[in-house]
Amino acid sequence: MTDPRLADLARRLPDLRLLTDAGDLEHYGRDWTRRWTPAPLAIALPASVEEVQGIVHWANEQKVAIVPSGGRTGLSGGAVAAHGELVLSLERMNRVVGFDAVDRTLTVQPGIVLETVHEAARGHGLIYPVDFAARGSCSIGGTIATNAGGIRVIRYGNTREWIAGLKVVAGNGELLDLNRGLIKNSSGYDLRQLMIGSEGTLGIVVEATLRLTDPPPASQVMLLALPNMDALMRVFALFRARLSLQAFEFFTDVALKHVLAHGAQRAIEGDHPYYVVTEFEAADERAQEAALAAFEQGVEQGAISDGVIAQSDAQAAALWRLREGITESLAPHKPYKNDVSVRIGALPAFLHDMQSLLGREYPHIDVVWFGHIGDGNLHINVLKPESLSDADFIAQCEHVTKLLADTLQRHGGSISAEHGIGLVKRAYLESTRSAAEIALMRGVRQVFDPNGILNPGKLFV
Ligand code: MLT
Ligand code: ZN
Repeated sequence: MTDPRLADLARRLPDLRLLTDAGDLEHYGRDWTRRWTPAPLAIALPASVEEVQGIVHWANEQKVAIVPSGGRTGLSGGAVAAHGELVLSLERMNRVVGFDAVDRTLTVQPGIVLETVHEAARGHGLIYPVDFAARGSCSIGGTIATNAGGIRVIRYGNTREWIAGLKVVAGNGELLDLNRGLIKNSSGYDLRQLMIGSEGTLGIVVEATLRLTDPPPASQVMLLALPNMDALMRVFALFRARLSLQAFEFFTDVALKHVLAHGAQRAIEGDHPYYVVTEFEAADERAQEAALAAFEQGVEQGAISDGVIAQSDAQAAALWRLREGITESLAPHKPYKNDVSVRIGALPAFLHDMQSLLGREYPHIDVVWFGHIGDGNLHINVLKPESLSDADFIAQCEHVTKLLADTLQRHGGSISAEHGIGLVKRAYLESTRSAAEIALMRGVRQVFDPNGILNPGKLFV
């Protein structure tokens, strides 16, 4: 270790795994945003809570910034290390610690991959219902740090509904045991909830106790083609009133074009501007008839142009791929991502304003819309034209985001629904949170992390 600060760390924690090879710095220093050049000081891979605490104490003394790191599948730059930070990767702390059949909780270390949590829960006849396309790579710690949403929020809510307890090493090195799995706990501020969605700026999750629930009854998956945006909201209202929805996701013809080019299979012929993948509970014949009746009513009203219902698990997976494959299919086009939300009731007016604004100001840019329409959460991806340099493209996208932030502010929405603020959206935080709120958030950060060593530069400018 040539850097004296790292030599000090290695002396204090002789068993700590530390990486300094250029390839490792590159690998662990970036997330899925791919916009920043990674430049961490080193990568630390602790194997215990004591090692995490030791690193945090060292960082406070040496004034080294720490970037807590999980699966690095984030899309807002929250796990990027571009300024000589120590990346604290939790990937070695990836075990199931225990299952409690009475409480129906699973206690896990933070580096465990979401899909492994799903499998562990299923092994006990239960489910952990937070789910999204990055399930095979993202870590549970990262989902907690961003209060991850995903495709089943409409039925189960966000990550914060499913965290019964958290052990956290705060920025001052103290180990906090928050809520301890209790269902009811009316004893003052809920610091556990404060940690969820704090993007690694208050503490490092070292253990989480997750609530599990019963698997849903058998479900069916349907793909719908719709003639216009107005129909989208009408079909949503119709389906939500008639069915027990597990998911209601939308995408445009532009998104479909990319996902088909990426190997997904077309399921509906013809050109349609909007599509919905919906999954709903269909345990018995009555529920299936209700679904058919809702579909027919949508067709009669002119709100549904075409549709297909999956006849097998393989077909259901193929329909889901049309939606879940979008992110991967757009990646080669270096998309600039926006992840916004408004109240469901405000969606039609917001969409109308945003579409006419983009049509007027940027008639030639390629914008891909998709997302969790049933939660009022839209992903608006701007694709980089070949002709524009990276810098010009980012400058143009920042302007689009400014328009978006202003429009969101008028409609009472949020600049980040589920990806977090990170680096990507920190300049727009004020469009969503008031000056008084931001001042309080800074004050909270100061309490938990007085030296500002945890993920500095993320969330706040
Ligand atoms: C999704 O809903 O597919 C994810 O949030 C990823 C994305 O926005 O690209
Ligand atoms: Zn999403």
